[in-house]
Amino acid sequence: GLSAAAALARRPSITGAELRSAVPLPPPFQVPLPIPAVLKPVSASGGADRYEITQREASAEILPGVTTPLWTYGGTFPGPTIESRRGRPVTVTHRNELPVPTVVHLHGGRTPAASDGYPTDLVLPGGRQQHSTHMGHGSEHGMRDPRAVVTELTRDYTFPLDQRPTLLWYHDHRMDFTAPAIWRGLAGLHLVRDDAEDALGLPAGPRELPLMIADRAFAADGSLAYPALDPTLRVRPGVREPYLAGVLGDVILVNGAPWPVHEVDAARYRLRILNASNARHYELEAVTGDGRRLDLVQIGADQGLLAAPVTHRLLPIAPAERYDVVIDFSGVPTGSLVRVLNRLGSGRTGDVMAFRVARAAADDSRIPARLSTDLPEWRRSDAVRVRDFSFRAGQMHAGHGWLIGGLPFDPARADVTTRLGDVEVWRLVADVHHPVHLHLAGFRVLSRSGRAPLAHDAGLKDTVSLRPGEAVEIITRFDGYRGRYLFHCHNAEHEDMGMMANLEII
Ligand code: C2O
Ligand code: CU
Repeated sequence: GLSAAAALARRPSITGAELRSAVPLPPPFQVPLPIPAVLKPVSASGGADRYEITQREASAEILPGVTTPLWTYGGTFPGPTIESRRGRPVTVTHRNELPVPTVVHLHGGRTPAASDGYPTDLVLPGGRQQHSTHMGHGSEHGMRDPRAVVTELTRDYTFPLDQRPTLLWYHDHRMDFTAPAIWRGLAGLHLVRDDAEDALGLPAGPRELPLMIADRAFAADGSLAYPALDPTLRVRPGVREPYLAGVLGDVILVNGAPWPVHEVDAARYRLRILNASNARHYELEAVTGDGRRLDLVQIGADQGLLAAPVTHRLLPIAPAERYDVVIDFSGVPTGSLVRVLNRLGSGRTGDVMAFRVARAAADDSRIPARLSTDLPEWRRSDAVRVRDFSFRAGQMHAGHGWLIGGLPFDPARADVTTRLGDVEVWRLVADVHHPVHLHLAGFRVLSRSGRAPLAHDAGLKDTVSLRPGEAVEIITRFDGYRGRYLFHCHNAEHEDMGMMANLEII
């Protein structure tokens, strides 16, 4: 039988328009799973690692026989993976050779504000320097608040990475244009590790797999289909133009490959799952050839290891969330397929990927009953204030129709001002499904509509799935750095259409 919480989680939650691809799609579970290459530092001296990434146009054969032009970090989608050690600083020099300005944000990073990728801190296209005062509003380069614009051709982003080890990801964050930029390929992974995690004996090496899940749709010419931005489209309560709700594709990519398959040993694997989709929510399950659902043993959340493992059969994952999961293929007959399915999908979007269990193998990995002891345990009574935020559609105005507290994003307005070190409770209420993300601060989920959090809310998070009609309480402590940060909906279309606000830490 289903628990009440699981039944609640089953409520339909897909909003958005699903674009139809205009090219032939491959059958599922044929294309091998790619693993994004790990980027080599250009220097690793002086206690810090330095990397260089050129943002540029490239093409790839994502669908067999179809050439797809992309915007990339370093020529590939996903971009190269960066692997770091906790507390060892990293500088990434981003050079922009794309035709548009860009902004890089390390999602989940505890990053000083200057390197956090504020949406108007632009890296301009190389060789085409422009001055903010000349940018017309409404153009592809338009910015609303020229005073806030910082422009450079290359930019050094410095990440102290003094934080719990976890899977982070970097992606574009330019004001009003984040969704199409990510859609075109501007996303990559950044893993942080430390000695304590290494010592746990979790599956590692080839038995640790990053899985970046993202849906896309393909136009007849092979390019990624995306609706043109049209500021005349309006949002009215109850009558939402489909793409404003979020853009969905009919092709599910994992690490940039459509419905891939990966050969595994009959052993435990650690899956570092990221939902990098603009708007698509998933409920993942792993099903054997004879219809058995394998346990998905969650060991970590957005911001690192849980205190103890939590077992799921069905794992909901909202845009930008990460789940660190161990799956055991040892009981599965060799030669057979374990399919990862999406219970929120239908037809082809109900398939995600598959594992072919190729051979019996020794396995000395384990899942310790105690994974970490450093999770913050903030209590409600620690909070010095409670804030309320509604995440709702409003009247479309100047391209902005998604509102936090009734207001669209304005870089010139201070929405939240808090003091370094303060603990706060935030109560978030939603109309439709909004994955809410805080920069800098990891948080715990306190409650959902007055009830206990769900099983998959465990641990330290930076993105919470705020479901239709729900009120979610989170608790956090603003520490680390002072400066201007953000919180926003991570439905990338909602974010671009105003559902973002400033968080000033003083
Ligand atoms: Cu994943 Cu504000 O970002
Ligand atoms: Cu939203």
